[in-house]
Amino acid sequence: MKRSLLTLLIVSGVLLSASAQTKKPQTTQKASTTSSSAAVKASLSRGQAVYTTYCLPCHQADGGGVPGLNAPLIKTSQVLGSKPALINIILKGMQGVEIDGEMYSNAMPPMTHLTNQQIADVLTYVRNNFGNKASAVTVAEVNAVRKK
Ligand code: HEC
Repeated sequence: MKRSLLTLLIVSGVLLSASAQTKKPQTTQKASTTSSSAAVKASLSRGQAVYTTYCLPCHQADGGGVPGLNAPLIKTSQVLGSKPALINIILKGMQGVEIDGEMYSNAMPPMTHLTNQQIADVLTYVRNNFGNKASAVTVAEVNAVRKK
């Protein structure tokens, strides 16, 4: 049920961005700049859906986490830091690591079942929400980390 809603969201996102592109008959050069910011927008809205399903139960709707239990995702060194390290947290999970001087007793499970696209989208979303501002994460970057 959740999964089919997610699929619907993704499909409508793809259809929307496809129709947005067909409405712009400009040169391909121009279209590529436009579509890259449109691509980030699409990634952000898909990322929100991934976050709601897979991350929100622990990290909460506002990314604030739960004191002593689940780490917050607001301006932490990991969220704003190195992208390969951040991608690795999603793929490998994390447990018992001090985060900006605080300890959390819950464990973050590895999320290898997410696709590279879902990981890129959710990390782009997290890095640009909850007061965070950092560059988008691409599928190619996730792919490079997963292959190691
Ligand atoms: C079962 C609860 C749980 C789920 C689900 C979960 N996390 Fe976590 N996450 C944690 C905990 C607990 C930590 C801290 C682990 C530690 O202290 O070693 C953490 C740490 C992190 C960190 C690094 C530290 C920080 O706070 O910046 C990031 C980034 C992160 N999680 C992102 C995510 C994302 C994105 C998702 C969804 C794809 C997710 N987590 C799903 C519990 C969870």
